[in-house]
Amino acid sequence: MERRQLIKNSAFAVAAFALSKDLFAKQGERYFSKNVEGPNNGIIKLSSNENPHGPAESAKKAMIDAVIISNRYQFDINTELREAIGKLTGHTKDNVLLGAGSSELLGVVTSWTAYKKGNIVASEPTFKVWLPAARKLGLPTKLVPLTSSKHNDLNALGNAMDADTKLLYLCNPNNPTGTVSPKSDLEAFVKTVTSKTILLMDEAYTDYYDSPSMSHLVSSNPNLIIAKTFSKTYGMAGARVGYVLAHPDTIKELSAFMAWANAGPSAVSMRGALGVINDKAFVEYVKAENIKAKSILYKGFNDLGIKYIESFTSFVYFDTKTYPKSIPDVLKANNIIGARSFEDNSTWLRLSIGTVQEMTKVVEALKAGVTKA
Ligand SMILES: Cc1ncc(COP(=O)(O)O)c(C=O)c1O
Repeated sequence: MERRQLIKNSAFAVAAFALSKDLFAKQGERYFSKNVEGPNNGIIKLSSNENPHGPAESAKKAMIDAVIISNRYQFDINTELREAIGKLTGHTKDNVLLGAGSSELLGVVTSWTAYKKGNIVASEPTFKVWLPAARKLGLPTKLVPLTSSKHNDLNALGNAMDADTKLLYLCNPNNPTGTVSPKSDLEAFVKTVTSKTILLMDEAYTDYYDSPSMSHLVSSNPNLIIAKTFSKTYGMAGARVGYVLAHPDTIKELSAFMAWANAGPSAVSMRGALGVINDKAFVEYVKAENIKAKSILYKGFNDLGIKYIESFTSFVYFDTKTYPKSIPDVLKANNIIGARSFEDNSTWLRLSIGTVQEMTKVVEALKAGVTKA
């Protein structure tokens, strides 16, 4: 790619990153009001599907040890982490591109799509951190409603593609609904979509329940991109480490849309990721605690007659219709924040799963809220 083209691409990428950043910053403002000192000062935060058990001791130690090398650029560690991710996922470093969280890479794919002047097809509701950037870059988006059971409607998504569709984004398990599509349906979907265009599959939550991943297909399919993150089961959301897996040719194309050569996570964060990447005990602990905490919420919802969707993630989507008060208000009165709406004119909300103690408090607050005047 020529220098002038690279500069143009970088401008695209920078615009996309800036917009994604704005979106997260706005969310942050809402959750931490000015009169609250410090992030967790008595507040139970269940808004952004963060892992309440992280970072792992293995990650913490690795990050502390790495502080001393912060005076050096991070190129070697980037290679080391890509090699480790390649080993973990059955690929090589050439199948891996690292970002400051997978959000950065969703932005990069969006910029690449804008450059190709096409449209994006995606579900509604889904994880749309990339959408404001797509809009500002003049990229039309076709949003396809979920099925009545709030699953991604794979048939309708396929049918929504046209000759100008340059990207189909699929979040599986889907955020905010927590639903997954069966493996055989996904495999057929990958085949159909990638015969026509690029399919970006966001697999941020597959690890929680070993949900079907399509990452094994990337080496043989240049039109498939899989996004993954260290923010969820690995508990490192604030450290900002994410990656995409793709065919080496596709990785090269995407790399050209990174804002600059040393974009992506810091040396310290990557050392943290290297510390935790093989810490199976931590991930198993996180998964087991998530199940325990989630079942407390399910039981509470059952007791209260609140309908919810079985979730394969670290959050639950539920219908507030039968509850007599505003659930966000009831929770807020108990210093619990995070029941968020993702659909216009809908009674459904999403709540992240915290610790067992936190979910016990949520249920107690909701039960007390029914009777309190
Ligand atoms: C589906 C999905 N993809 C990506 C992300 C972003 O993760 P990261 O922290 O790696 O940017 C999130 C964060 O909540 C998410 O829910």
